[in-house]
Amino acid sequence: MEEQKRYGHFDDQHREYVITDPKTPWPWINYLGNEDFFSLISNTAGGYSFYKDAKFRRITRYRYNNVPMDNGGRYFYIRENSPSTGGNWEEAWNPGWKPCKTPLDFYECRHGMGYSRITGKNGVEASVLFFVPLKKWAEVQKLTLKNESAEVKRLKLFSFEEWCLWNAATDMENFQRNFSTGEVEIETSPLEGLGGATIYHKTEYRERRNHYAFYHVNTEIQGFDTDRETFVGLYNEFANPDAVMEGRPRNSHAHGWSPIASHYIEVTLQPGESKDFVFLLGYVENEQDKKFIAPQVINKEKAHALIAELNTAEKVDKAFAELCAYWDALLNIYHVKTGNDKLDRMVNIWNQYQCMVTFNFSRSASFFESGIGRGMGFRDSNQDLVGFVHQIPSRARQRIIDIASTQFPDGGCYHQYQPLTKRGNNDIGGGFNDDPCWLIFGTVAYIKETGDFGILDEMVPFDNQPGSEVTLFEHLKISMDHVINNLGPHMLPLIGRADWNDCLNLNCFSWDPNESFQTTENVSEGTKAESLMIAGLFVVTAKEYVSLCHKLARLSSSQDTALAYEAEADRMAAAADAMTEAVKKHGWDGEWYLRAYDFYGRKIGSHECEEAKIFIESQGWCTMAEIGADEGMVAKSLDSCKKYLECEHGMVLNNPAFTKYIYEYGEISSYPEGYKENAGIFCHNNPWVIIGECIAGRGNDAWSHYAKILPSYVEEKYQTLHKVEPYVNCQMVAGKDAFRPGEGKNSWLTGTAAWMWYTVSEFILGIKPDYDGIRIDPCLPETATDYTVSRKFRDAEYEITIHPNGAQKGVKQIVLDGFAVEGTVIPYTPGRHHVEVVM
Ligand code: BGC
Ligand code: NOJ
Repeated sequence: MEEQKRYGHFDDQHREYVITDPKTPWPWINYLGNEDFFSLISNTAGGYSFYKDAKFRRITRYRYNNVPMDNGGRYFYIRENSPSTGGNWEEAWNPGWKPCKTPLDFYECRHGMGYSRITGKNGVEASVLFFVPLKKWAEVQKLTLKNESAEVKRLKLFSFEEWCLWNAATDMENFQRNFSTGEVEIETSPLEGLGGATIYHKTEYRERRNHYAFYHVNTEIQGFDTDRETFVGLYNEFANPDAVMEGRPRNSHAHGWSPIASHYIEVTLQPGESKDFVFLLGYVENEQDKKFIAPQVINKEKAHALIAELNTAEKVDKAFAELCAYWDALLNIYHVKTGNDKLDRMVNIWNQYQCMVTFNFSRSASFFESGIGRGMGFRDSNQDLVGFVHQIPSRARQRIIDIASTQFPDGGCYHQYQPLTKRGNNDIGGGFNDDPCWLIFGTVAYIKETGDFGILDEMVPFDNQPGSEVTLFEHLKISMDHVINNLGPHMLPLIGRADWNDCLNLNCFSWDPNESFQTTENVSEGTKAESLMIAGLFVVTAKEYVSLCHKLARLSSSQDTALAYEAEADRMAAAADAMTEAVKKHGWDGEWYLRAYDFYGRKIGSHECEEAKIFIESQGWCTMAEIGADEGMVAKSLDSCKKYLECEHGMVLNNPAFTKYIYEYGEISSYPEGYKENAGIFCHNNPWVIIGECIAGRGNDAWSHYAKILPSYVEEKYQTLHKVEPYVNCQMVAGKDAFRPGEGKNSWLTGTAAWMWYTVSEFILGIKPDYDGIRIDPCLPETATDYTVSRKFRDAEYEITIHPNGAQKGVKQIVLDGFAVEGTVIPYTPGRHHVEVVM
């Protein structure tokens, strides 16, 4: 194996990952923004910004799959002319090294919580702090130029942003139109006491758009450019734009073609002097009747107001301090001290941070997701919110309502919806039969965190149709019913288009490469395709649903309602029992759970199969559901995962890998061995088995599986091999059958984040929110030592110290504020509490 280089390290005190070599094996990115305005930024300042929806409101342009990879972004070009450089204009350089790639004396990129700070030094030091202030529709770029030498430095500074023509999809294809629509406005003279200079991007504003963007700098400029080809030159690249190479801006005014925004500033720095420049990339929406102040002249009032809030270094520093305080508060809700810094930094910082990012973006925009394909996933978003609900419950609440609003009256649902419109996505449609169950998973997590049973009374429509509203509880009920009403010949759930594994397309039957595996069902009439993954998921969610009904019965004000909830609990408990029996009878293969039955009713994931004899998903869900625990099925299944699925980098999805395309199975067999859903380590489902291990009390095994895919452990060993960001989980690591086992792909936007969080916070460290309080039930490796979790929970704050005493599982005693507690639930009461737990 190649030598494993290090490109950076964690700085836990500042909650940062510090990249010290710009040539990372792949762009290592960060996310800026919390609610409406978002940016992606790489360690060399590549990336782009958008408002709410990466497809429909793309503000700056990005070229995917470019050469070099990660081309385009927010660039600052600097050229110096000083006595020590011989009085000539030196070659241009950038604080983030790219695009000029001029060697630097020093380079560093610090990715932090909602900000990135990129510093380069080449004679002078240029440090840029990038962040999106709370509640603002803008990205701040605060550039600090510092002259630490003993001579006067003269500099030419060019900024650069390239506008996207809003719709990121048509921006990449419809050039016969795009090259004629581009429009900008420029404000170079100080206006309304604001000072500085602003370039406005107003393409399509003259017709149906009510929004424009702007790029401002808070200082006087000596020139500008807004036409790309004039600035760059048709035969040049970002690395050597004409204007920068010649050291003079063209003051170009874009009409069509490709509008950009570049400020030109001449700077003189005395010895020891440092200067701040605040650049602001903003977005504005105007009411229809207030769009213009004169024919063709846009109304800039809101832009000016936004600029006025952020046009000095002091104002920016204050906004930055607010952002930091916001993250301090969020990360203080759950905080652990174990003494193992690799565990602590993931639990306290990066795992929670990634959960916020997945909650915000679902699977839409990363350096692997182009932002133009997928909206919010029904199952994805329900899972994401489980990792996020403790941070900002009110946002999780709204998300649950939004998701449920895309359901159909039979409990089925759209697989995805668009964040801008919140409407179900017709292109992909529905028919993924695991989807409905996830609504229970998400909603129950929300209620346990908050105690807000009132959410169940919210009136929620079907398919967003006004007038169709029923209570959210009714949505949960029909979600369960959707499974029960769609059983196959073995009384196991019919799979539909696919279950969690989007690539197990058992009704697709496609020989046509132009058909989408996801949406094609060439044959489904008379299908016998059933899923053991949904069976396990159903039993787990049914248990949750039953306990919710019991709880609602106890909360009911009338006897009748209470009885109705009890009856509903009994009905679903019976359904869960029946499903459990069906799995034991038809879903057990002797050493592990089967994966599915195909269209014809033949086994998938059985020792009888030629390839892919065992799959991870059904092992995870059926062990979590404890199906056949008494008969030894759970233990055998978990042992089989270790024996057949586990490898150095985690557990693979199936084994052995498929070596050929199987018409009856669909996309799963389309991937080469060891990648993605064909025997890749699909990190998302490793935690399912880990939770299975925890429920079974096997702490050593749970921990060793967990540590294998925990970024902080991987970071230490494999930065080069792993390739993608070492501070977050990626969706997939190439499995043991792959060409390069251990290579990571699809970083950031993956359900792995939420599942890693759920696993470690609730099952390993054992702090589990429940309706009436916090359940304490850790499952640890024997080597674990005493640790303390501080947990804010509703209006209470618990300081919980666990003494494992070498036990893997089993709480012997809980003492709450000096008094022994019966059972394992600390009853919720507001205020501060001290808890001691002996295992
Ligand atoms: C990928 C899946 C993904 C699906 C839907 C498939 O090609 O392998 O991971 O969920 O597409 O976009
Ligand atoms: C990615 C999707 O976002 C997720 O919903 C799915 O379960 C996995 N792919 C597995 O196919």
